[in-house]
Amino acid sequence: MSGMIDVILSPPEIDLLPERDLAGCVAVVFDVLRATSTMVTALSHGAAGVWPARSIEEAWALKEKRPGALLGGERHGEKIAGFDLGNSPLEYGENVRGREIISTTTNGTIALRAVDHADRVLAASLLNNGAVAAHLAAEPLRGMVLVCAGTFREAALEDVLAAGMLISLLPGCVPGDSAQLALALYRQEAGDLGGALRRGRNGRALIAKGREAEVAWCAQASRLPVVAERGRDGCIRAG
Ligand code: MLT
Repeated sequence: MSGMIDVILSPPEIDLLPERDLAGCVAVVFDVLRATSTMVTALSHGAAGVWPARSIEEAWALKEKRPGALLGGERHGEKIAGFDLGNSPLEYGENVRGREIISTTTNGTIALRAVDHADRVLAASLLNNGAVAAHLAAEPLRGMVLVCAGTFREAALEDVLAAGMLISLLPGCVPGDSAQLALALYRQEAGDLGGALRRGRNGRALIAKGREAEVAWCAQASRLPVVAERGRDGCIRAG
């Protein structure tokens, strides 16, 4: 990977992505707390695939077409009424092996769908950054866009941190200014990723709800050797 890397730092920038030319580009989407960490965890347990939906209505409509799929996701961090699962990575273990998952979340699935027009889309997290870097390092890519899903309308520290980590694992790339910001943050926090996650808005909110274990799980670096890539049909599968 020798091309330019750009980082989309926050939701207002994500709103502009549909107008951006992403031909020949790979888009890597981060929602460390918790959407993409949960997707990667589910796939590492043998889930058949994850369908990212922009809304609860879209999720139910997809369920009509794929009745065997599990419904997962959150609003305000809590499980959605009538859904099978929430958005905690710790809920996705052997129970999802061989199952498809339809997921809708506040920021993560919106960010994933904002790059529908990119040639390739990967869902990434701290958990699988090593596998993603190894996979992309061998690729002759024109460019790469790292999309930080954020929290509501703001940037999320943990997403920018994970983007910075991936950039640090791709020494041949050419980081733009936002990418250099992400890399600098990662270099500053690399020694204690868990501490950084606990200091962020999402981490503090999850801990206040007694969900420390989820934050600790999502803070692990390169623990899962799985690459989560979107297929032509829009479903994200383990590559
Ligand atoms: C999101 O997509 O906004 C997050 O994943 C929300 C969460 O998991 O609480």
